[in-house]
Amino acid sequence: MAKRIVILPGDGIGQEVTREARRLLEDVAAAIGEQFDLDEALIGGSAYEQTGSPLPEETVEKCLQADAVLLGAVGGPKWDNLPGHLRPEAGLLAIRKRLNVFANLRPIRTWPGLMLASPLKPELLEGVDMLIVRELTGGLYFGQPKARVEDGNAVVDTLYYTRQEIERVVRQAFELAQGRRKKLTSVDKANVLESSRMWREIVNELAGEYPDVAVDHVLVDNAAMQLVTRPSSFDVLVTENMFGDILSDEAAVLTGSIGMLPSASIGAGGPGLYEPVHGSAPDIAGTGVANPLATFLSVAMLLRHSLNLGEVASEIEAAVLGVIEQGVRTRDLAGTSNDWVGTEEMSRLVREDVQGRLNR
Ligand code: IPM
Ligand code: MG
Repeated sequence: MAKRIVILPGDGIGQEVTREARRLLEDVAAAIGEQFDLDEALIGGSAYEQTGSPLPEETVEKCLQADAVLLGAVGGPKWDNLPGHLRPEAGLLAIRKRLNVFANLRPIRTWPGLMLASPLKPELLEGVDMLIVRELTGGLYFGQPKARVEDGNAVVDTLYYTRQEIERVVRQAFELAQGRRKKLTSVDKANVLESSRMWREIVNELAGEYPDVAVDHVLVDNAAMQLVTRPSSFDVLVTENMFGDILSDEAAVLTGSIGMLPSASIGAGGPGLYEPVHGSAPDIAGTGVANPLATFLSVAMLLRHSLNLGEVASEIEAAVLGVIEQGVRTRDLAGTSNDWVGTEEMSRLVREDVQGRLNR
């Protein structure tokens, strides 16, 4: 049976980068003699414009029946004044929740050839290869109540986690660590937050089941510092939703550009959700300069984690590396140089390389 992939372009450059990703998926299917059933659906501000909802039920239905979902980006200034539940971001949070993709995997590595694009010293960047595992469907983002209270003179957001919610994401992180350098850093704020103290207890309990994985606990403020002072010391990092959001943008700086960062969100058996970490970049939307590589690398993660096509995924990653090593740059990677190519040209070069590798 043909594998079903739903593409959710969303807003801004989400449209442009997913257009290239569709081309990549079509090329891959042809090269390996598989059939992908590619469908599209609405999310975010563009969904709100057309249906009045940032996540129409039809989109959820399509996604639930798919093997995997690829998302571009959501958001834009046009929708900044909408009430919270109608904002494009509400659509993104809702699709994560409805697909129950509780573990968000954000691999951070440095690319030889791109070290100079990072503001950090090259010697600090040597050997950086970490995986941030961010809890994605609980914590401050979803806890209730979340409201203005006391006649608008006070406000409450709620950090709520069940033991089961923490256990499942921590377990996922241990298993991923077993397949890597077997080092797990759990990030919390256990000197202040009760939720963090329970998080830490659970990590220590589960550690007994993974004796081959070395575990340490780091407070989030200290982790923020170590991410830039000794980034290569991290292997797998696991943390709650909000800390993970913040730390993953910080870590993105290591790679030279957030335009290179893919992510995979996986749950218990349902379709995975794959998205570039960058946003909709309204300032450059429609100008053809967006970097499609984070989305290509997200396609690689999709093929590996949801379609069991790990070898094809590795070829895509190798092609991205190859094109970067040849010196091809999109504008975000070019620094002050004027020598860069647009979205379509970068896409074409990588896809050509992928074709060559798959037809070998
Ligand atoms: C991310 C983004 C989202 C998040 C926003 C757009 C809601 O920052 O995926 O990291 O906070 O999860
Ligand atoms: Mg974020």
